[in-house]
Amino acid sequence: MDEREPGTRVEDESRRTVMEAAGLSKTYQLGSETVRALRGVNLRICEGEYVAIMGPSGSGKSTFMNMVGCLDTPTAGSYELNGQNVSRLSESQLARIRNREIGFVFQTFNLLARASSLHNVELPLIYAGAPASERKRRAREKLEMVGLGDRIGHKPPELSGGQRQRVAVARALVNNPAILLADEPTGNLDSKTSVEIMEVFGRLNEQGQTIVVVTHEHDIAEYAKRQIHLRDGVIERDFMNQERRIPGREGLVPIAEIEQVAAAAGEH
Ligand SMILES: Nc1ncnc2c1ncn2[C@@H]1O[C@H](COP(=O)(O)OP(=O)(O)OP(=O)(O)O)[C@@H](O)[C@H]1O
Ligand SMILES: [Mg+2]
Repeated sequence: MDEREPGTRVEDESRRTVMEAAGLSKTYQLGSETVRALRGVNLRICEGEYVAIMGPSGSGKSTFMNMVGCLDTPTAGSYELNGQNVSRLSESQLARIRNREIGFVFQTFNLLARASSLHNVELPLIYAGAPASERKRRAREKLEMVGLGDRIGHKPPELSGGQRQRVAVARALVNNPAILLADEPTGNLDSKTSVEIMEVFGRLNEQGQTIVVVTHEHDIAEYAKRQIHLRDGVIERDFMNQERRIPGREGLVPIAEIEQVAAAAGEH
């Protein structure tokens, strides 16, 4: 298996770094008790990577995602997002970077029930102050990217669970974020619908989107290119999947075969 020291594993050394954590630590103080949720995480993720974060309950996955997503700052260590050190920024500075660089997808879709798909997707652009015509054009483009070009007028209650989550993915993409960050995106979906979401993620990643997804399901992690396993606040394993799941195919496919198919497709 292709496995090196935690934090050094990258897909292609020549690629641009999107995020880099060094000695990333987070300590929570609860009365007299100190909880060390992250204990020195070293990690680099490059443009175009597709990473699954795994680990048992309490291992620090959500804490780590909060740092990566600029929702919280570390107690010690540094974190750089797109070349900018964000470990010591104020709340309002963090919010600005978060809106520009991160697209969030959560287990619960967090859509406005009475608004159309189009309106739900254009919301982040309203906050960003984009003009209406531009907002509609970009929202429509992202809905088409997730295969919902024919559902732009539907409201969430008029959509299936998988379609709702795809609206949430389109909304996460509308600001062209550096990282698409998903915390248990298939947690509320049945297995068939989960595959629908993994199909969208796979296609987005093929188009170059950097994706980081937290999951406790092994078969979901097998759709990604790389797996990082946390335990007790440190990286326990960091490796490239040598076999991956591909939507529409049974079982695991060796990456050599996936690359052959991709190369052949590129020749046409
Ligand atoms: N706000 C907080 N205050 C105090 N302790 C916290 C806080 N948030 C998390 N912790 C503790 O930090 C550790 C890591 O928690 P975290 O939520 O990151 O785990 P997780 O890997 O996401 O778990 P799960 O799979 O259950 O979601 C746990 O021991 C947790 O109890
Ligand atoms: Mg969690």
